[in-house]
Amino acid sequence: MLAARAADVPGIIGECGGSMNCLTCHCYVAPADIARIGPPTQIESDLLDGVIEARENSRLTCQIVVRADLDGVTFSVPQWQG
Ligand code: FES
Repeated sequence: MLAARAADVPGIIGECGGSMNCLTCHCYVAPADIARIGPPTQIESDLLDGVIEARENSRLTCQIVVRADLDGVTFSVPQWQG
């Protein structure tokens, strides 16, 4: 979420600053990359049930920690957000 905001990615707002209260950082992880990201925590998974247009590959970007081994992972923003 912080990296997306720094890059002015449309649709990633991060209104709560990453405390999992706003859901304005919802993204989709490319299916081929989902295993690299790993599964959401139970709390994140429960919250994702409340986002519009949730999918199997939905994640909250504020819960994804940027690491070197994630280089090249592709994310997309739900159309209604962007
Ligand atoms: S920034 Fe608010 S839930 Fe992710």
